[in-house]
Amino acid sequence: MLDKVNSRVRSIEVPGIRYFSNQVAQMSNGVNLTIGEPDFTTPENVKQAGIAAINKNLTGYSHNSGSFELRQEVSSFFKEKYNFYYRPQDEIIITNGASEGLDSVLRTILCDGDEVILPAPIYSAYESLIQLNGGKTIYLDTTDTGFKPDPERLESLITDKTKAIILNYPSNPTGVTLDKKVMDQLVDVLQKNNLFVIADEIYSENTFNKEHTSFASYIELRDTLFLVHGLSKSHAMTGWRVGFLLGPKSLIQQVLKVHLNNSICASLPSQYAAIEALKNNRNTPITMNKSYIERRDFMQECLQNLGFEVVSPSGAFYIFPSIKQFGQSAFDFATELLNTQRVAVVPGSSFSNYGEGYIRISYANSMEQLVDAMERLEVFVKGL
Ligand SMILES: Cc1ncc(COP(=O)(O)O)c(C=O)c1O
Repeated sequence: MLDKVNSRVRSIEVPGIRYFSNQVAQMSNGVNLTIGEPDFTTPENVKQAGIAAINKNLTGYSHNSGSFELRQEVSSFFKEKYNFYYRPQDEIIITNGASEGLDSVLRTILCDGDEVILPAPIYSAYESLIQLNGGKTIYLDTTDTGFKPDPERLESLITDKTKAIILNYPSNPTGVTLDKKVMDQLVDVLQKNNLFVIADEIYSENTFNKEHTSFASYIELRDTLFLVHGLSKSHAMTGWRVGFLLGPKSLIQQVLKVHLNNSICASLPSQYAAIEALKNNRNTPITMNKSYIERRDFMQECLQNLGFEVVSPSGAFYIFPSIKQFGQSAFDFATELLNTQRVAVVPGSSFSNYGEGYIRISYANSMEQLVDAMERLEVFVKGL
């Protein structure tokens, strides 16, 4: 029956990230630097709010868009922190993680053959979701511009088939964030060309030493932008599956038709935990960031001392050094590092072909583990 399975599904590859994390899990004394989630636990009061909801039998469906109280909290979070406003009544959907928000938006807007621009290297799920929804990925190379999209290059890629662009800053896998000046120039191009903008800002709260600027704060994009967000990274809540999707009423009401058919709603106990997180744990990411900054500084210094070229990350919890000087493919480098030193990293080629020549290291890991990993990496590169 395999030949009867949707060819779009068959052609999708299982992400490389999983391969290396599965391998290292079977090794004794391995160090896993592939992890894409915080190494912190969900705050205690947030957990208790979820447990209390279950004990009160708040375990049924919510409104399809999510509980109104949570939508109100989401709306006021963005208003208070970033000064832009989306109506809780009809401009916000609570999704099953950011992932479902992305998928529901792409299902809503894409028709067969539509092109979606992705600055690359980039999180691999986007390409799969675009492909599943009949679209075509057009990569915007950022490897020679410090992993930041060049506005002129963006403009040169836009055709009459271009439907949307996905912008993910702070970025997975590079950790870079964008300066306001570059954002202004990008917004000019996007506005002129009337594209959908999907801003995946799931790492916004994990921005270091400066304030995050959201693409949603540009009034020029108010009618064309979807903001994809959630608590997975900011509050160590990956398993609760709570995401937020914000956009103009007319578009959000279209996405809602997709969301209510594929999900009905997000998990209700998780929504109660999310209300608690947004009401009482606004500082949780600040505490995490202190550790991330310390680890980022340590990793960057070690990598540079070992001769790796690195673009300094200013958000998320990834660092993306070049391995070009070793003359190996990213996959071979990662495989050899794993087999000889039991250190798992993700080959950059898992983040599109533009990531070839790089590896992604996650520092969502204890300092002790990171020190150990860097010592092993030193032994490895000295042997190359
Ligand atoms: C850029 C990016 N977007 C979305 C997600 C998925 O987030 P969620 O767990 O909320 O679905 C991830 C997870 O790693 C990610 O890195």
